[in-house]
Amino acid sequence: MSVTKKSFGINCLYFLGLLAVATFISFLGVAIVGRGFERIADVGYMFIPMIGLVFVLLSIIHIYSVWIIRPSYKKFSRLREYLIIISIITLTSLFAAFIYGYFSSYALPIAAASLIVSMLLSQRLGIITGVFTTAIVGLVCLPTKFIVFNEFSILDVGGFLIGIISSVSATFLMHKGFNRLKVTLGEIIVGLILMPLGVLFGFMDPEYTALSILKLCGYIFVGNVIAVAFETLLLPLYEYTFRIWTDYKLAEICSLNQPLLRELKEKAPGTFAHCLTVSTLAENCAIAIGLNPFMARACAMYHDVGKMKNPQFFSENQTDGYNPHDDLIIDVSVKMITEHPSEGAQILKEHRMPDTVVRAALEHHGDSTLMFFYLKAKGITEKTLNTDEYRYSNPRPSTKYSAIIMICDMCEATIRAKKPQTKEELEGIVYNIIQGRILDGQLSDCDISMKDLAKIKTSVCEAIPSMMHERIDYNKAKERR
Ligand SMILES: [Fe+2]
Ligand SMILES: [Fe+2]
Repeated sequence: MSVTKKSFGINCLYFLGLLAVATFISFLGVAIVGRGFERIADVGYMFIPMIGLVFVLLSIIHIYSVWIIRPSYKKFSRLREYLIIISIITLTSLFAAFIYGYFSSYALPIAAASLIVSMLLSQRLGIITGVFTTAIVGLVCLPTKFIVFNEFSILDVGGFLIGIISSVSATFLMHKGFNRLKVTLGEIIVGLILMPLGVLFGFMDPEYTALSILKLCGYIFVGNVIAVAFETLLLPLYEYTFRIWTDYKLAEICSLNQPLLRELKEKAPGTFAHCLTVSTLAENCAIAIGLNPFMARACAMYHDVGKMKNPQFFSENQTDGYNPHDDLIIDVSVKMITEHPSEGAQILKEHRMPDTVVRAALEHHGDSTLMFFYLKAKGITEKTLNTDEYRYSNPRPSTKYSAIIMICDMCEATIRAKKPQTKEELEGIVYNIIQGRILDGQLSDCDISMKDLAKIKTSVCEAIPSMMHERIDYNKAKERR
C-alpha cells in the first residue's frame, strides 16, 4: 500500500515537472516569436490552452518512454531518461521558435532532437520526440504569430511538415556502424532531397516568385545543416553530463591513437597485440549474442592495461627470452600477476572510462586459480597446498561483457600457446575453456545463458582460423575423417 502511495507521489512529481516545462516552453516561445515578454499578455486567453496542449504532448512522450518502450530496454534510470528527453525537447523547441520567429518555418532544426534521442536512448523514441517536438513548436508559434502579428499562412504549416519528415529521416540514419561523418553527410543529403518540396509548397503561395521559391528551398537545406550543427554541439555535452557512452564515443576510445592505448603499445607491445586479437574475438561474440560490439571491443582493448606497470612479468612481453619469474619465489610471482586486474581497473577509473570497461578489466580473471604457479609450487613441496592462495582475488564476471572477455582472453592465450593444427583440436580447446569456467563457478554471477555460451563457442571457432590461418590445417582434419 505504502509502495503504491509512494509511486503515485513520484508520478505526480514527474507530471508536475512536465507542467512546469510546458509553461516554460509556452512562456518563452511566445516571447521569442512575439519579440518581447509583453506579448504574453497579448496572447491572453490562448495561453492556458496552449500550456495545456503542450503538457498533454509532453505527457504522451513521457508515458510512451516510461511505460511502453522502457520495459524492453531500460537503458538508464527513469529520472535520467526523463531529464534527457525533457531538456532536449525544451532546448530544441525554443531554438526552433527563434528560427521560426526570425527566419522561416522551413528551417526548423527539429531533426537535432530526433538525432540526439536516437543516439542516447532509442530510435523509436527519437521518431516520437521529433514528431511531438514539431507539434509543440507549432502549437506555440503559429497561434502567437496569428494573434500578435495578425499573420497566418498555410505555407508556414508546410515548414512544420518538412520538420517532421526531416526528423524521421534523421533517425533512420542511425543504424549499426554509423559514425559522426556519416550522420552529418546523411542529414545534409536529406536536406538536399527535401529541397524540391520547397518548390511544391512555394507554388501554393498565390504571390509566388522564382526568388521566393528559391528562398524556401534554401531554408530547407540550411535547416538541416543547422540541425546537424546543433546536434554536434549538444551531443558531447549530454555524453559528458550524463556519463553516456554512445557508439561514437566508444569507437573513439578504441582508436589506436588514444593516449592510454599508445602507452600500452609502448610499454607492453605483446600485451597490446594480445588485446587487439581479443578485441576482434570479443566483437564477434558480442554480435552473436546481441550485445553492443563497440562496448565489447572497448572492454577487450583495455582489459589488460594493468600489465603496463610490470610488463616483463607477462609471457607475451618476454621477447628476449628472459623470464623474471625464474628468479623469484612463487608467492611473489603470484602477487605480481594477480594484481594486474585491480591495477588496470584503477587506471581506467582515473581515465574516466565506461563502468562496463572498468568492470571487465577487474573481473576478466574472476577468482580463478593460477594453475601454472600452483602446479609449480606443488612440484617443489611435500606439503598440502591451499589452492585459494594461488587464486586471483577479484570479483567474478558480473556482466556478459566481462564473461566474453574472460572466455576470449583465455582462448587467445591458450590457442597462441598450444597452436592447434586441426579444426577439431581448436573446437576442443574452446569447449574445454568454457566448460572449465562454468565448473569453476566463474560464470555464475552473470546472466549469461547456455545458449549464449554455445554461440560464443561457435563465434570464437569461426573467427580464429581467419586470424591465425597458418596454424589450422583443415586438410589434416579431412584426412582423419
Ligand atoms: Fe589479464
Ligand atoms: Fe588478457
